[in-house]
Amino acid sequence: MVFSAIGVFDSGLGGLTVVREIQRLLSNESILYFGDSARVPYGTKSDETVRKFSKEIVNFLICKNVKAIVVACNTASAVALDMLSEKRTIPILGVVNPGARAALSATRSGKIGVIGTTSTIQSNAYLASIRSLDRNVTVVSQPCPLLVPLVEEGWLNHPVTKQVLEIYLQPLIEKKIDTLILGCTHYPLLKQTIREVLPHPIQIVDSAESVAKDIKKLLLRENLLNSELNRAEYRYYVTDMPKRFKEIGERFLQSTIDSVEMVSL
Ligand code: DGL
Repeated sequence: MVFSAIGVFDSGLGGLTVVREIQRLLSNESILYFGDSARVPYGTKSDETVRKFSKEIVNFLICKNVKAIVVACNTASAVALDMLSEKRTIPILGVVNPGARAALSATRSGKIGVIGTTSTIQSNAYLASIRSLDRNVTVVSQPCPLLVPLVEEGWLNHPVTKQVLEIYLQPLIEKKIDTLILGCTHYPLLKQTIREVLPHPIQIVDSAESVAKDIKKLLLRENLLNSELNRAEYRYYVTDMPKRFKEIGERFLQSTIDSVEMVSL
């Protein structure tokens, strides 16, 4: 790569929703993406396993000389970020804290809903992050394990997906949340359908958008922004099925993926 890139990693292709937001805000920045497609999903795995996989990926990205790392995967951010940050030699950002902060500035009633994978919700990472900033806020969490496969199937507006969302979101609506955090890489693709299911005034917070704003601030602060214009390069590494990654990934990214390289860790 001509310029040192931002490293972004995820369990698979969902993290491309984060890449899309970074590209929108930082069009000069090169991005090196790593999708662990051989071992996806992380959202149903133990914390120990997700930590082990995340550490291997961070080592890979550091060997590629990235200047900062964004943990796009909510599950990895929730269970592995503290461990990854302990021995870090470059800045590492996760999606949980930026999403929690954005939800706190959006809420008026102090009742925030969070949806995510089973592991993310079980970790209580969003709850802990929100409560560390404001102890008086109520957080209502809901695991939504069926949503990742539905999104990868492309059933974004399908009646089945809508019905599944109605079931998952009902308890949050009953608890009268006024803000909902999309705590999973795949959920931004469901934003429209989620809006249709939620009563009108509930605000949606997309952790992908929040972390993109934070990485921009961080690069500015650390003097790491690429000042050369129009020289951004994008590289994609996966651990399995590069063809599937390209096909489905282009839907997530909403632009073309030129080439995908398969690697083993
Ligand atoms: N990337 C994961 C997340 O954001 C969803 C897919 C998975 O379970 O690995 O939590």
